[in-house]
Amino acid sequence: MKLPDQAPGCPGDSCGGADLSPPRSLPAADSDGRCHFVEINGRRVALDSRADRRLLAILREDLGLVAAKPGCGIGRCGACMVWLDDVPVNSCLVMAWQLDGRRVSTAELVADSPISEDIRQAIAQCGGLQCGYCSPGIVVTLTHLYQRVPRPCADEVVTLMSGHVCRCTGYSGLLRAIAGLFAQPSDVAGTSGHGGGPT
Ligand code: FES
Ligand code: FES
Repeated sequence: MKLPDQAPGCPGDSCGGADLSPPRSLPAADSDGRCHFVEINGRRVALDSRADRRLLAILREDLGLVAAKPGCGIGRCGACMVWLDDVPVNSCLVMAWQLDGRRVSTAELVADSPISEDIRQAIAQCGGLQCGYCSPGIVVTLTHLYQRVPRPCADEVVTLMSGHVCRCTGYSGLLRAIAGLFAQPSDVAGTSGHGGGPT
């Protein structure tokens, strides 16, 4: 994440325009060996997809889950971030053949968690978004970092967020939000109560 000296804050909603609508009906498995069983947002689904199709395309085009955004397409901008087995990954770099038996959580699910609510409120209150295109991916990564035990400090988070690009360059607001959320590393015992996956 490139960090300019100053960037203006601006109003916006707290979820960055994430579409919270439920998935469409899912394709059935077929018999040509292209079926991949995967858990997506808590639902076990059978994907009938070519092995080399990207997870980002499957989410958006097949399942109607559009919070993960297309951007660079090469793993540089973070707009397409999802959790794969609870770890943030760029969905533009994950192929269908890699999904068998895996668990995918998109911003549609992550946004439902109380932890994510803290993140989104902090970003909104600090003016950390403008058009909101990058925001779902940023929330996905920040929510993961926020619930880690021990929780990283603000400086570490800025480094860990280096894979996110905001084309509106609203980094100052994001920095303020990160500074407030990650002011102190969490205790190893996890007494902050922010452990666990999405709810
Ligand atoms: S679209 Fe995936 S990282 Fe940019
Ligand atoms: S707020 Fe517009 S791309 Fe980040």
